[in-house]
Parts: sequence; C-alpha cells; structure tokens
Amino acid sequence: MKYVVTGAAGFIGSHLAEALVQRGHEVLGVDSFTDYYDQTLKEENAAGLDVARVDLAEEEIDLEGVDGVFHLAGQPGVRSFGDVFEDYARRNLLASRRVFETAAAAGVRVVFASSSSVYGDAESYPTREDAELRPISPYGITKAGCEQLAYAYTKAFALDAVVLRYFTFYGPRQRPDMALMRIVDAIALGASFELYGDGLQSRSFTYVADGVDATIAAMERAPAGALYNVGGGAEATMREVIATLERVSGRALELVERPAAAGDVRRTSADTRLIEEDLGWRATTTLEDGLRAQWEWASVRVAAP
Ligand code: UGA
Repeated sequence: MKYVVTGAAGFIGSHLAEALVQRGHEVLGVDSFTDYYDQTLKEENAAGLDVARVDLAEEEIDLEGVDGVFHLAGQPGVRSFGDVFEDYARRNLLASRRVFETAAAAGVRVVFASSSSVYGDAESYPTREDAELRPISPYGITKAGCEQLAYAYTKAFALDAVVLRYFTFYGPRQRPDMALMRIVDAIALGASFELYGDGLQSRSFTYVADGVDATIAAMERAPAGALYNVGGGAEATMREVIATLERVSGRALELVERPAAAGDVRRTSADTRLIEEDLGWRATTTLEDGLRAQWEWASVRVAAP
C-alpha cells in the first residue's frame, strides 16, 4: 500500500512512518517543520524517511495512487492560552480542513489523530467515546473542531474518516515540552523538574508503539466513520510515574513545585472497549516497561557527546 503520513517528522508520526515502512508499505511523509520545538529533533526523527516540507494550511497534497492518509500533523500541547491561538487555529483547523477536502475529492481514507483533551474534565471515568465534549484548552477546542470538520466532510462529501483520540503518548522521541521527556532529561542531567499542581493529576499514558499499532489497525480494519479512544491500560498519577522513573534510573529527581497550569485536565482515563471489540486492539506495554524504554533512550542521548 501507499500511504501519506502528515506530521511524519514529529514524535508519533515518525514512529508510525517507520512502522509502515517496516511492514512493507510505501510512505510519503509530509511535515512543515514548525519551530514549536527544536527543528533538529524533527530532522533526527525524519532521518531515513521520505519527508516533504509542506504547509498543509496552504498547500494541497497529491493523493494520486495513495491508499490512505494518516493525518497526524498539527499544533500540539494543551497549555495553549494566549496569542499562540493563531498557530492552533492554522495548524489544526485550517490544515485539517484542506486535508479532509483533498481526501474526500480523491476518495481516500483519512485516519485523524485527535486527542483525549476534547473531553476536558470529563463527565465520567473511564471515559467512553460518546461522552460530552467539553474541552478546557484552546488546543482541545481546535481538536474537537477538527473532529467536527471531518464529520461535516463525511456527510457532505462522503469522506471516509476514522477519528482516534490519543491519550498522552510517551516513549522515545517524545516531544520536549511533554512531562515525561522533561523528567527523563532532568534525571539524566541532574537538573530539576517543574511539577505543575499537586502531582496527583493522572493520565492514561499510552506507549507510542502500542498507539502506532492501533493507528495502523484503524486504517486497515475500522468501519468508515468510526471513532475510538486510544489509551494505555493503566492510569497513573504524575507522582507515580516520577517514582517509577526514579526506580528505573536508580536516581532521585529534584522537584520544583509550581501552580497547576491553565488548560491541564485533572484526569484522563480511556475506556477502550470499543476499539478492542472492533479491531482487537489493546495496549500491551506496561507503564514500567515503557518508561524504562524512554529512560534508556533519553539517557544514552544525554551521555552522547
Ligand atoms: C498530552 C500532549 O501534550 C497533547 O498534545 C495530547 O493531545 C494530550 O496528551 C492528549 O492526551 O490528548 P498532557 O496529558 O497534558 O498532553 O501531557 P504532558 O504535557 O506530558 O503533561 C502531563 C502532566 O504533566 C500534566 O498534568 C502537566 O501539568 C504535567 N507537567 C507537564 C508538569 O508537571 N510539568 C511539566 O513541565 C510539563
């Protein structure tokens, strides 16, 4: 098969593109290499992949002969208040609108990477896909808007779209603004980590390789119009992951306590029964194994000259 992966130089997109190549598929990567974080990290992620520089808010992608689009490009990060909203609107809403329109015209399936942040402080836990959407961050609002755009294109132009709500993916190459990446770097460097809030906020942390498997299964087997949570099996608090990383690394982390951050939800907990029933997918990597893999990857990088 021939697939397009948008955001192929990003954390999740690069893992997905590599997994597709490993399975024998042809992959055309697309990325605009924004300056949200160090671009050399994105270049490292994309090494060995075929990644074209395309700004999806302005340019169309050529879908001639393409069997499916994994649309992972976007402006991430839930702590998204302030003038950065223009980036969120452009890189999520404008870019996705163009991708959905192009894919609908070409009759090509899109698997869209949405986010647990569309639930906000959810109405119930574990959270099912039919829970009310009440995002509390500008980022979450743009992701919910993208989901609605996909729906509108399915209704008006028969777009074949599958929406996945990713729950806090982690592992090697995690974005440098995310908590676990900051923690492993701080431990490796002997630096401090700023903990927002009381540390009892919790997440359905999802190991990136598990999430990639779910994403490929969705392209291959999900019914058109499906929408699934993609979440790791075990929910953990920040204090628990910090303790696990201290154990795994054999070192202590220096914590600096900061106020809770605007846009952060207190808790995420994925109900994944739907994707398990439809696609037979469930996360298989334990939090300890996944954290060890991220620690080993990060500590080797920090030690390198
Ligand atoms: C993550 C991603 O950043 C989003 O792009 C994604 O859409 C989202 O998951 C999702 O599941 O939908 P988040 O869960 O906030 O968002 O992940 P982190 O940025 O790793 O934060 C996790 C927790 O660590 C939060 O409670 C945050 O307040 C805390 N944190 C983060 C700190 O205490 N200190 C930091 O320096 C960074």
